Amino acid sequence: MSDQHEVINNLEDFLNKAKIEISKCETSSDVDNLRVKFLGKKGVLTNEFLKKLGKISPDLRPVIGSKTNEVKNEIQAEMNRKIDELKENEDKIFEESLWVDITLPGARREIGFEHLVKKTQKEMEDLFISMGYEVKEGPEIEDVFYAFEALNTPEWHPARDSQDSFYLESDKILLRPHTSPVQIRTMENIKPPLAIVSPGKVYRSDYDATHLPMFHQFEGLLVDRDISVAHLKGTLEYFISSIFKKDMKIRLRPSFFPFTEPSFEVDLMWEDKYGGCQWLEVLGAGLVDPNVFKAVGYDPEIWSGFAFGVGIERITMLKYGLTDIRDLVRGDLRFIRQ
Ligand code: PHE
Repeated sequence: MSDQHEVINNLEDFLNKAKIEISKCETSSDVDNLRVKFLGKKGVLTNEFLKKLGKISPDLRPVIGSKTNEVKNEIQAEMNRKIDELKENEDKIFEESLWVDITLPGARREIGFEHLVKKTQKEMEDLFISMGYEVKEGPEIEDVFYAFEALNTPEWHPARDSQDSFYLESDKILLRPHTSPVQIRTMENIKPPLAIVSPGKVYRSDYDATHLPMFHQFEGLLVDRDISVAHLKGTLEYFISSIFKKDMKIRLRPSFFPFTEPSFEVDLMWEDKYGGCQWLEVLGAGLVDPNVFKAVGYDPEIWSGFAFGVGIERITMLKYGLTDIRDLVRGDLRFIRQ
């Protein structure tokens, strides 16, 4: 008899302790953990009571068995009650976390500004499109064949020095130092006559108030019959005057590029705001060298043409009165917003 009492006492003890622990739970997952601890396969109820039922004398088993079941059911019920209570609160907290005050002003997303260089580039493109030119683009990672060789600039040529800069995996591939390779890529693909412009990024190892290691050039190429320096000069004068929105004087100064003959540096007459005048160099140009035509399979006896290359940053600086080219890449919003 005392055996029976002891077991029943122990069961009641267990029930009371379990109720206290359940009441202390702060979250529904705490309760779930207790469910494992008390009622799980390796839990207290199984280990301490169910497994011992076999050892109890058969006539006592039904009483103790049903008491054990009662305790189990009560613990279960207690846990469900607790979970319901906690869940209600947890759901409320979750819902509150989703709540949005739709009357608050939204986070404003700032609208960007077109960069001055891009703006100038587009103006230049539109101008040449209006004259019947097509816009072509070429790769910024370029092969030495297009960057130099086909442009009549062999390996030993001193004109390569100033442009030989950012090579990649091999000495055959580099970041293009000018947009002139697009001349070759274009002529390889289309038959003359043709007129194209090609804007894009170019790379050189320069960095100071008037040079950037990455800048933008705008290449022009026109191929037709009987093209002369007069066509080149007329086109450039029209281009410069249109971009600066007033009649501008330009001058062609003899120069040298391997891929043009004759070659010129083109200066424009610049009036500063104090009434002073000076010639400013703005671009390189010339008549296409016969060797370039030969490299692309055009007959130089039939075809002639002019080419020019202009720095878009340089034009932008003049147009907007900038003194330091580096302002264009500093990303200072005060500058960009002006
Ligand atoms: N590619 C030359 C440079 O970058 C410019 C140029 C282009 C000169 C076309 C003549 C003809 O300096």
